[in-house]
Amino acid sequence: MKTTIAEVGKFVGQEVTIGAWLANKRSSGKIAFLQLRDGTGFIQGVVVKAEVEEEIFLQAKSITQETSVYVSGIVKEDERSPFGYELGITNIRVISQSVDYPITPKEHGTEFLMDHRHLWLRSKRQHAVMKIRNEIIRSTYEFFNKEGFVKVDPPILTGSAPEGTSELFHTKYFDEDAYLSQSGQLYMEAAAMALGKVFSFGPTFRAEKSKTRRHLIEFWMIEPEMAFYEFEDNLKVQETYVSYIIKSVLENCKLELNTLGRDLSKLEKIQAPFPRITYDDAIKFLHEKGFDEIKWGDDFGAPHETAIAESYEMPVFITHYPTSLKPFYMQPDANREDVVLCADLIAPEGYGEIIGGSERIHDAELLKQRLSEHNLDEAAYDWYLQLRKYGSVPHSGFGLGLERTVAWLSGVEHVRETIPFPRLLNRLYP
Ligand code: 4AD
Ligand code: MG
Repeated sequence: MKTTIAEVGKFVGQEVTIGAWLANKRSSGKIAFLQLRDGTGFIQGVVVKAEVEEEIFLQAKSITQETSVYVSGIVKEDERSPFGYELGITNIRVISQSVDYPITPKEHGTEFLMDHRHLWLRSKRQHAVMKIRNEIIRSTYEFFNKEGFVKVDPPILTGSAPEGTSELFHTKYFDEDAYLSQSGQLYMEAAAMALGKVFSFGPTFRAEKSKTRRHLIEFWMIEPEMAFYEFEDNLKVQETYVSYIIKSVLENCKLELNTLGRDLSKLEKIQAPFPRITYDDAIKFLHEKGFDEIKWGDDFGAPHETAIAESYEMPVFITHYPTSLKPFYMQPDANREDVVLCADLIAPEGYGEIIGGSERIHDAELLKQRLSEHNLDEAAYDWYLQLRKYGSVPHSGFGLGLERTVAWLSGVEHVRETIPFPRLLNRLYP
């Protein structure tokens, strides 16, 4: 019976054949342990000299790392293995030999691994991170579909800049100028006026000269946008959504979290509602903690965010930032012109900001004023202004950064391990 590692549990006691690669190997004079992987999972195959033809045992002893094979064997339950099964190998057929595989079981430096990202992805750790990434994407679609949202795809090539003009990737669009999308938000606002509740999931690009463990040049964002939703409603969607994906990952990625050595108790306690702190109170808190240099109107850096996050076991919303710190489209607080109805969601354990969101300005005149204050060309935003002319309504939305969320849930230190082929400052290869 031809099957996959993920499916062997259905064939206990039977002989199966699996297409696989040799991930690792240990052997003695009488027995060989082959760590096999097939993409769906990892399983240990055992070859006992006394139980197979001599030729098979010799092959098991000489097989090299990452050689592709068809292996046949009897599926056995095995309590010692985290996976729960083992394969008593009866036959091995080599498909293609692998010679001098560069990523050996010894330790390698980060740059070496990054240069071999196309092969590094095969490791058990990277496999686990990619499976968690996939589960977050799967449960995102499930959540928003259950909640009545429509998936909408904003363009990647754009003529405008939602998040500030300094970090844009420029390209030619025949005779015009175009930019790679920094955020689909403005288009999602148009979509919300057509479809009510919408969400997008796609790549976004920022030419940021940041070299931190939280920054990618190309990253993927989930951007919901909701008509008739105000500030409060927006935060409810966010905390319900984040709790939902955590629950899904805990339920469906047990093996992967285990492989990564993730402390599950830290994720298990996360549940909506999430705590909140205003920007004003955050500044006071930071002063109490000895961050003397920060003053009202300054943006938070990673150490500030981490200090705030450390006083909670849950993700925390920082709300009502100064208007001057945020993009042009955010709705000011009705009682205070100097702050906006926005929130950043800061993950625990130092993973930083995973969501940025706000209520949007729905008054045409105020929006025009803001465009001019931000030195943005009104003509380029004419279509966006029209959304305020033809039946404008209060609306809100947010963007969740997928890679930072994967890093947090997986417990990996750096976002470079959370996307198959990371685009970083100074790295476009492979
Ligand atoms: O806070 P940001 O810039 O918000 C927006 O782009 C809004 N237009 C979203 C919206 O309201 N529809 O980005 C949103 C999230 C951040 O919280 C962070 O998680 C992630 O995107 N992010 C990055 N992730 C990796 N590398 C980068 N360079 C990132 N920049 C932002
Ligand atoms: Mg932000």
